[in-house]
Amino acid sequence: MPAGPRRTVGELMSAPVVTATPSETVAEAAARMNDRRVGSVVVVDGQRPIGILTERDLVRFAATGADASGTKVSEWMTDDPDTVAPTLDAGEAFASLASHGYRHIPVVDDGALVGIVSMRDVMRVAQIQPVVAPGTIEAPPGLEGVIVADTSVGDVRGTEGFYHYRQYSAVDLADKRTLEDVWFLLFEGALPDEVQRVTFMDEIRQYRVIPEPVLEVLPRLAASSANVMEAVRTAVSFLGAAEGFRPTLDLDHAERRRNAMQACAVIPTLIMATHRLRAGDEPILPHPDLGYGANYLWMLTGELPDADVARAIEQYQTTTIDHGFNASTFAARVITSSGADVAAAVVGGIGALSGPLHGGAPSRALDLLDAIGTPERARSYLVDAVERGERIMGFGHRVYRTDDPRSVFLRGVAERIGASKVEFAKQVERTVVDVLAELKPGRNLYANVEFYAGVVMDHCGLPRDLFTPTFASSRVIGWCANILEQAADNRIIRPSARYIGAPPPQPVPDA
Ligand SMILES: CC(C)(COP(=O)(O)OP(=O)(O)OC[C@H]1O[C@@H](n2cnc3c(N)ncnc32)[C@H](O)[C@@H]1OP(=O)(O)O)[C@@H](O)C(=O)NCCC(=O)NCCS
Repeated sequence: MPAGPRRTVGELMSAPVVTATPSETVAEAAARMNDRRVGSVVVVDGQRPIGILTERDLVRFAATGADASGTKVSEWMTDDPDTVAPTLDAGEAFASLASHGYRHIPVVDDGALVGIVSMRDVMRVAQIQPVVAPGTIEAPPGLEGVIVADTSVGDVRGTEGFYHYRQYSAVDLADKRTLEDVWFLLFEGALPDEVQRVTFMDEIRQYRVIPEPVLEVLPRLAASSANVMEAVRTAVSFLGAAEGFRPTLDLDHAERRRNAMQACAVIPTLIMATHRLRAGDEPILPHPDLGYGANYLWMLTGELPDADVARAIEQYQTTTIDHGFNASTFAARVITSSGADVAAAVVGGIGALSGPLHGGAPSRALDLLDAIGTPERARSYLVDAVERGERIMGFGHRVYRTDDPRSVFLRGVAERIGASKVEFAKQVERTVVDVLAELKPGRNLYANVEFYAGVVMDHCGLPRDLFTPTFASSRVIGWCANILEQAADNRIIRPSARYIGAPPPQPVPDA
């Protein structure tokens, strides 16, 4: 039941509706959906709706490989779609959409199509309490395919093998722009002009120095942590306290952005300082004249890096800034949704990224190459591993069903810089893809970002315990863009779980 004033479907629906005829081709209907930026077309016979063709149908159609310009809409539409009346209560429309899993439902008055109402339209009526009891909308394990937010930061298109930051291909950005330009794009919504670039670089320069109180505790943190990720996670938490980060809920955008800038700028410095301290060396201050990748390598050794190597590492970092609603980005948004401070959300992101199923794989992918040793051993090693039920690190992805564009790009980077392991890695990649296609048919498993990341980082002189931290060094920018977006238009993220324990209430035994 709606808790606020009653709203009807007629008030919320969109009209006029984008329609198609059954004899049109799938290609024509798809082009119209694309032009008009809608997720479905209602198929009409005169005024009467006789079917609906949705994006989901198009995805299923694309998977068949058939010719869209030779196939009629009538062959792929859902016949006689459910409809609602314009007088229907919005709460009841929500129930109908939710229980059937529809994203759109045509609105019909007296047999004629008058509008279309989407899940999003009904959800916008903020006070709607689902008529279905909370918890009755089942999400698949791992929330696969569930849309949980609107974002304009970027997205991943798994079937096409494409991902983007705002309106640009992420791979094109990594090819043509500096990391700082892309960072600006994610924070400000557009690429910088010359003046904006200079101001932004000044801002980064100021924030990349570790504040004194954090520097003081860093040697103890570095020595008492199991690895660099762990130490940096704790250091970021301390940074938030030392710099007085306050709950995002209590801040305006300018201050949230300042906190986010500082977290992003200082993390590379924290990573390298921690790494050096753990090796018994003094941290090296950031180099004021160097860009992102070159400064990163400078802080590792104190030597000016080769320009190609610095560019390669920066390109890797640029490709990993953001990637849809991955586990760490989602974690950072969930934490922000409670109104917590930017450091809390970044710490959550680091925690999620540290797991081997997410960011913890690149060193393991390189370990795999070492364990295989020679190309001749690859097949038998991999078959044994998969038959034992092991996962091949650096392969498979939740969203990509084809080549991961990051792995394709990084393979090119590795070839360009003449990475010593690249030829062997390419042979192993081919063998893994073949073995997985044989032993895990239909799963579409290909190399992911982690496979060539290790090869590139290794060639650039980064030791293996810096692989996952280096992933974090740039992913923090994506987390922060998402944190700022979440905080700007927030509702606490609070789903439900199905209780499967012993039935309550049981009498509580006396102690
Ligand atoms: C990335 C990953 C976590 C995605 O997981 P997911 O979307 O939940 O996929 P699932 O775990 O449901 O896997 C689907 C099937 O493919 C198999 N599979 C997935 N990745 C595999 C891999 N790398 N090696 C072997 N089998 C794999 C699973 O065993 C499963 O097979 P099943 O149907 O017989 O049970 C998963 O592919 C993986 O563990 N990869 C290795 C770790 C890695 O490279 N992580 C970095 C990610 S960028």
